[in-house]
Amino acid sequence: LDNGLALKPTMGWLHWERFMCNTDCDKDPNNCISERLYMQMADVMVKEGWKEAGYEYVCIDDCWPSHQRDAQGRLQADPKRFPGGIKKLADYVHSKGLKLGIYADVGKNTCAGYPGSLGYYETDAQTFADWDVDLLKFDGCYMDWKLLGEGYMNMSKALNKTGRSILYSCEWPLYEWPYKQPDYKAIRETCNHWRNFADVYDSWSSIKSILDWTATHQDIIVPSAGPGGWNDPDMLVIGNFGLSHDQQESQMALWAIMAAPLLVSNDMRDICPRSRCCCRTHTSSPSARIRWASKDNALLRWTVSKRSAALEGFSSERLLAGRSVSPQCNVTQILPQYKELGVQTPHTQLVVSVNPSGTTLLTVTPTSSDSAGLYK
Ligand code: GLA
Repeated sequence: LDNGLALKPTMGWLHWERFMCNTDCDKDPNNCISERLYMQMADVMVKEGWKEAGYEYVCIDDCWPSHQRDAQGRLQADPKRFPGGIKKLADYVHSKGLKLGIYADVGKNTCAGYPGSLGYYETDAQTFADWDVDLLKFDGCYMDWKLLGEGYMNMSKALNKTGRSILYSCEWPLYEWPYKQPDYKAIRETCNHWRNFADVYDSWSSIKSILDWTATHQDIIVPSAGPGGWNDPDMLVIGNFGLSHDQQESQMALWAIMAAPLLVSNDMRDICPRSRCCCRTHTSSPSARIRWASKDNALLRWTVSKRSAALEGFSSERLLAGRSVSPQCNVTQILPQYKELGVQTPHTQLVVSVNPSGTTLLTVTPTSSDSAGLYK
């Protein structure tokens, strides 16, 4: 979407994978979906260097609104969990030098059953603009699939009409794939990023399934990505419970290779320092930045085989062939003795070096039957 936003893949924090639809603030005040949660995350993002590393958007997902619209038909935040309202929360987040994201749905209801935006696109876009929101994640539940495209395009126009810069994050292709091959040209013109595949969970099998889907569909989805519009393989789940440290580093590196939005979903208030460091390694290194900011097209195509294991079939030929290598950024060295990453091949190594700094960007070392390690 040519709205001047997402020239590099978006970075921030998004509540869903870690906190889901926890609305029980009586029993679980620390972890329920409430203004307090986002304020605390914003505080930590500033205090602990996330902001400095580039993580900018603090994003609300589903389950924030009241079940009823107000008398004027506007969405309203749940009054008990957001006593200050979203505008105040946006002010707070902005006062920290960060941006606020919100969530809504193109259909009749959100996936968790809260009011959807169908029939209210202009009203909701204006409400978000009035609240000074900076990003909208627009889900695709409870919608006739034949109307998905029209709905997503109409919301895009409605956001544009408000005059406020609001980054537009879509799930249009994800909901269309079961019925037809999505029109990625139209999607790119409408959205700043778009989810293609199922929700990420806190497990390596989930990460692998996302890579597998990406590998088999790369010829279709890669050409549409670049500054202003990105394929979104969903959240980083680093810092939670389901991934080994090696797997966390792997997710980080792979998401960087995919030029993916980097929206972490974890409890930043309580995260092991090693995980924290892993979220920063690849985003703050100059070489990673070069990959995103290269002039011709920030996207470097990733290569994973058409087969099922996460990185199985990585070969120097495919890797080089698959990449649109910019002048400053060359893949210089690959140790091809790699066989099956993450499966049954301990001690195998794959090294990818990225110039010009001469630094080795990624070294992939499968360390156990289901874990792959990536080291800088
Ligand atoms: C869908 C989306 C998720 C999340 C939930 C919220 O499943 O794909 O990312 O937003 O809805 O209900």
